[in-house]
Amino acid sequence: MKPRPIIIDTDPSPDDAVTFLVALASPAELEVLAVTTVAGNVPLPLTSKNALKALELAGRTETRVFAGASAPLMRRLVTAEHVHGRTGFDGYDLPDPVTPLAPGFAPEVIVDLVMCREPGEVTLCCLAPLTNIALALAKEPRLAGHLREIVLMGGSFSEGGNVTPAAEFNIYVDPEAAAKVLDCGAPITMIPLDCTHQALNTQARLDKLRAVGTPLTEAFYHLLKFNKMFDEQKYGWEGGPLHDPTVVAYLLAPHLFSGRKANIVVECASSLTLGMTVVDWWSVTERKPNVQLLRNIDAHGYFDLVIDRLSRL
Ligand code: BDR
Ligand code: CA
Repeated sequence: MKPRPIIIDTDPSPDDAVTFLVALASPAELEVLAVTTVAGNVPLPLTSKNALKALELAGRTETRVFAGASAPLMRRLVTAEHVHGRTGFDGYDLPDPVTPLAPGFAPEVIVDLVMCREPGEVTLCCLAPLTNIALALAKEPRLAGHLREIVLMGGSFSEGGNVTPAAEFNIYVDPEAAAKVLDCGAPITMIPLDCTHQALNTQARLDKLRAVGTPLTEAFYHLLKFNKMFDEQKYGWEGGPLHDPTVVAYLLAPHLFSGRKANIVVECASSLTLGMTVVDWWSVTERKPNVQLLRNIDAHGYFDLVIDRLSRL
């Protein structure tokens, strides 16, 4: 079978970078058409720089990185330096990248890369606020109908929020963009906190990663350990959630996940619950299911997969 073409839209902190590296380590299954960056965890110049740093570390500089939106559609940017540090990549010093960004504005590049393929070919893997995707959908109304699928890490069902009591970070930063994406009509799979909070990066799992013994796994050992420290203090858990690689893990090994289709709407008006993903799990409304919501993950299988793929780079 031909590898599945994907575009990875991302705001690199380390879990984002692990995601596109796992994808690049899986050429039999996945063809990475581009990495597109957006403002999120840190401002756009830093998310773009971190993407390039990670690709240089992996020796995969042929992968093109396109920068996109530097701010949400309608709101001021909210960032997460308190989690990932000032650079978004605190915990390990990687050299400044020498590879330049590819020319082009990410939302336009997404449109071009999808529309030049057959309908139903390209999957968007979304690891960040959905600004670039909303802009792409606005630029090309046929885009949604041309996609194979959108798989996104974001939102929350019964787990509560990680940035407000009600909202998960990626949705909270640009709720209007998220609302537009969830409403676009393309097949959508959403991996919320309910799932990623089961996928804890424990010290034992980090040690397993480090034991691979490559410069890449050594760097990510330290980068992920920095994140883990913040999460452990915040949640009181042994380990921090490894959020974004669930997106690519789902493409590679869907049997690790379970969930069901439901209607999901994003709250964009209430100041108290802004960015909440309101899930009609029990079909108590007439609203049609628009999203496949993944609620459970086999965490052991997930970490085995991620570590195995990273060891191939
Ligand atoms: C999301 O927020 C970011 O900090 C992570 O990379 C992930 O995409 C989790 O809420
Ligand atoms: Ca992210």
